[in-house]
Amino acid sequence: MAWKALDDMDLKGKRVLVRVDINVPVEGGRVTDPTRIRRIVPTVNDIVKAGGTPILLAHFDRPKGKVVPGMSLEQVVPALSQELGRDVVFIDGDYGSRVSALGEGEVALLENLRFNPGEESNDKGFAERLASLGDVYVNDAFSAAHRAHASTEALAHLLPACAGRLMAEELGALEKALGNPERPVMAIVGGAKVSTKLDLLGNLVRKVNHLVIGGGMANTFLAAQGIDVGKSLAEHDMTDTAREILDKADEAGCEIILPHDVVVAREFKADAESEVVDAKKCPSDAMILDAGPESVERIGKAMSGCRTLIWNGPLGAFEIQPFDAATNAAAAIAAERTRSGELVSVAGGGDTVSALIKAGVAEDFTYISSAGGAFLEWMEGKTLPGVAALES
Ligand code: 3PG
Repeated sequence: MAWKALDDMDLKGKRVLVRVDINVPVEGGRVTDPTRIRRIVPTVNDIVKAGGTPILLAHFDRPKGKVVPGMSLEQVVPALSQELGRDVVFIDGDYGSRVSALGEGEVALLENLRFNPGEESNDKGFAERLASLGDVYVNDAFSAAHRAHASTEALAHLLPACAGRLMAEELGALEKALGNPERPVMAIVGGAKVSTKLDLLGNLVRKVNHLVIGGGMANTFLAAQGIDVGKSLAEHDMTDTAREILDKADEAGCEIILPHDVVVAREFKADAESEVVDAKKCPSDAMILDAGPESVERIGKAMSGCRTLIWNGPLGAFEIQPFDAATNAAAAIAAERTRSGELVSVAGGGDTVSALIKAGVAEDFTYISSAGGAFLEWMEGKTLPGVAALES
């Protein structure tokens, strides 16, 4: 661990700038899923307990350097106060004088940093303005750490800096899953397109023992093997790339697990008539929408020999029944093995987390990351600027 933790810092009487990610879903001005807010509570409360004054720095949505009233962080304040169990002082406009007026133990939240163009351009001047508001910097926003922005990158170099509780937890879990995992390791990667997950697949074949490929991208791999996938979603211009990935896996000794049998339908809608066929026999007027039961059995068998699982992306069109079956069944196997202590299971990415919640097993996984893009970039083996800045 090359970064400092909250407990390494002297916070008594200090103003503590805490970068958090409270980019949460909001409908009609109300937070509909406070999960990300809940996860920063330990850091904020521990800073207060240690005698510090937390000043929360965050973004909301993508206002692109302009003030967009509908993207104000003020709408998140009621949910934030409720989760923290204390009032939150919301500060917009002139930060300086409002921040100096804060009393010890008060918690403040600054307006959406992305209203200022200096945030996304990682502007040193904007970072210096932020730094002048505090004595210590804490980054608790792993899910924004793939962005080199003023509050995630430049600011970390201007004040004594450390990782918050959530950041430390995320980094610890990811290290266990892929950095230094107990072997054998299985990765499950799903999603629509190979083209968006090329770096990910390239990195994983070198690091894991079994790589399960699901979702629409599995169709591209089937097509790369000369299999007719009918009307299925597939990137026919990516078949050479898919073949290269298969070769790389072969060289690295990584077993690629593609669907053996598949669920096909003529229409993509809930409860559409469907059938299970051999993956090599998709009718030309049908599309593959899920992996079949034999495929799940094969995944389960390979998983039973594994100590670690890392999961990003559902196996089928999980939003629509009955095409959620393979995802649900594989998730249930992973959950059971995790409960019995045989498997360390880590999952991340928006769709994956929704799929595991829908399958009713999210609580059973060892760790569910709160990150989407950052989780993916980390799985791709990329350096996350927000983490690197803490390490330097
Ligand atoms: C997220 O929701 O994944 C993070 O808050 C990052 O948001 P961004 O993709 O707009 O940078």
